[in-house]
Amino acid sequence: MQEVKTQRQVEILWAVLVGAVLWAGPGLGADPVRTGGDGESAVRIENLLERMTLEEKLSQLTQRSGDDIDDADTPEARQKTEAFLATIRGAQMGSFLNVHGAERVNRLQRVAVEESRLGIPLIFGLDVIHGYKTIFPIPLAETCSWDPDLVTRAAAVAATEARAAGIHWTFAPMVDIARDPRWGRVAEGAGEDPYLGAVMAAARVRGFQGEDPAAADRLLACAKHFCAYGGAEAGRDYNTVDVSERTLREVYLPPFKAAVDAGVGTFMSAFNDLNGIPATANPFILTEVLRQKWGFEGFVVSDWDSIGELVQHGIAASPADSARLAITAGVDMDMCSFVYRAHLAEEIRSGRISETVIDRAVRRVLKAKARLGLFEHPYVDPQREAQVCLTPEHLALAREVARSSIVLLKNHDDLLPLGKDLGTIAVLGPLADNRKDPFGTWAGIGGWGEAVDVLAGVRSAVSKETRVLHAKGCELEGNDRSGFVEALTVAKQADAVVLVVGEGQAMSGEAHCRTSLGLPGVQRDLVETVHAIGVPVVVVLMNGRPLSIGWTAEHVPAILETWHLGNECGHAVADVLFGDFNPSGKLPITFPRNVGQVPIYYYHKNTGRPPADNDGFTSKYLDTPTTPLFPFGYGLSYTTFGYADLEVSARKIPPGGEVTISAVVANKGKRPGHEIVQLYVRDVVASVSPPVKRLRGFRRIFLAPGETKRVSFTLACADLGLYNAEMKYVTEPGEFRVWIGPSSAEGLEGRFEVTK
Ligand code: GLC
Repeated sequence: MQEVKTQRQVEILWAVLVGAVLWAGPGLGADPVRTGGDGESAVRIENLLERMTLEEKLSQLTQRSGDDIDDADTPEARQKTEAFLATIRGAQMGSFLNVHGAERVNRLQRVAVEESRLGIPLIFGLDVIHGYKTIFPIPLAETCSWDPDLVTRAAAVAATEARAAGIHWTFAPMVDIARDPRWGRVAEGAGEDPYLGAVMAAARVRGFQGEDPAAADRLLACAKHFCAYGGAEAGRDYNTVDVSERTLREVYLPPFKAAVDAGVGTFMSAFNDLNGIPATANPFILTEVLRQKWGFEGFVVSDWDSIGELVQHGIAASPADSARLAITAGVDMDMCSFVYRAHLAEEIRSGRISETVIDRAVRRVLKAKARLGLFEHPYVDPQREAQVCLTPEHLALAREVARSSIVLLKNHDDLLPLGKDLGTIAVLGPLADNRKDPFGTWAGIGGWGEAVDVLAGVRSAVSKETRVLHAKGCELEGNDRSGFVEALTVAKQADAVVLVVGEGQAMSGEAHCRTSLGLPGVQRDLVETVHAIGVPVVVVLMNGRPLSIGWTAEHVPAILETWHLGNECGHAVADVLFGDFNPSGKLPITFPRNVGQVPIYYYHKNTGRPPADNDGFTSKYLDTPTTPLFPFGYGLSYTTFGYADLEVSARKIPPGGEVTISAVVANKGKRPGHEIVQLYVRDVVASVSPPVKRLRGFRRIFLAPGETKRVSFTLACADLGLYNAEMKYVTEPGEFRVWIGPSSAEGLEGRFEVTK
């Protein structure tokens, strides 16, 4: 009778086979020349697994925060630190987060590698979301560049600085699609669109990981938060998510799939309940989709205590239950719940789970450590950190990214760019002389001591003869208007006012949601009051989410959306204000007229009664237009781009065929500039109701004054697909409409048909 081999026996046989191949030399497969090659590390991992106790395995699946080291030179501090180091010597965890600095990391790593029984290196993780020491614009801002190469370069700089500080693994990119700006974490992602979100997810993974995450300037990346965390009801963080499988597959999953295709090393499971099964215990997404459908081979870490929180969700009766549910669903490492280490040994002894489930998870973690080269090079050169952080080159790139992240929302009568030789400029507002708030959320250890605020940026940009005056006017929050008097006094002396308003660093980000999308405090009153004196006003917005700035948009002649731009905020804003850079950013998320419109996004369905001005019984409001304040993909320039001569390569294409759509874009103004040309598609009739538009391509082009360029997009049938009633991804025959234009709200239209 054929002997049935257990999974374990197969793995051991495989390891022996691989070992034999290595021994036999290059002629038989694995490359013995490159130390640590896949074959060699596979053997090492199997050998380790063989030797590990169950407790040591569960420790590899445990991550804790490293804030227990006290550097004070007191007996208490020394005792506390020694107790902490003893947990490492006892191999009670496999990973730390929130420990950074080459010396500090090396100190802990040395204990793990040289004093623990098996010497397995630790993996150190940190939220390097938009920079380590050099802070780049928040991801939502960076996405306004629609420049994946630029985004990749920024992530690579973040990786260079973080790896030099001993970090191996960043909990980024955050790839959650978000359509509700009340949600604080909209700041961390790439906005509302799955196509743009997927492009940015892949770009960030490539930047962090490069060709080889073992390199001294690369990190392992982490696609988070898996999944649909951005769909939190009411825009309230950690709240319930209940979406159809079709919305899950069409909207929330594509950026995660793009991260897998880009080779992302890890995933992070989300806090939220997902259609009744919390994401951290959800076999459908963690195993069926991520492993079986997508073939992901990295490891999954939970979000902070999200395993322990399964008890709060009400699907686990105890921490032991939550540990079993999570590891069985496919969460490999426990971030700070400590329930794996506390309860899984008993779960195995009781037979409620098999040790092969533990071995599977440990193997994934050890493979990631091998992929990072930690077995060969567990320590970091302490000299590098000071050499590579906040260098002029990194700051120059931060300035380039910041400039490309700025969106020109309004420029009535070409008020902008301002002259550098104006007599007097007044720089007003609570964010004008402010270096910290422009760092935005998740700027942890950024070097804002070296940051440049708008006031400094303006001062460094204008002529020596120009007087630059400043007044704060008001605080970010509160009802105190007493500062208005000083602001008006200053403004009345000026030829132009630059008024910097918006949100502070702590008004967006995790657990920082808002029920209002207006300017906080009395800032809108400050805008209205300053505008009333008749001096030309440029409003510079700094915010971590779309804001409903209806009054400002209607009355103020010029508005720059600058988000939270990081270290080089002041220089980048000045570069745009005075025309040294022609703004080219486009919105990756819709700006509502007011919070009552939320959720509002371009990728919407037509409904059976689309809004019609002359018919009350259609899908609209009594008190607000149904159109947004500013649409997805919108952004102006100091020049004017014209679109003409749309061409569709074929009126009909067969199933499996492709079609090329192109148009001529012209720079009709006097300034050179970038334009982000966008391609949208609509499936006119489908077996399930189709969205009115879907982004299917974009190109960032540069045109000199008078220059024209034909921009082409080629679509394959697979780019036109949908999930039908049976949840199969298909491209159905029929009519398609296409647009090429400057935003989701306008463009040249064409048509073609996919035949049967
Ligand atoms: C937080 C966040 C997650 C982050 C993790 C570690 O709760 O949800 O994005 O990576 O904890 O800081």
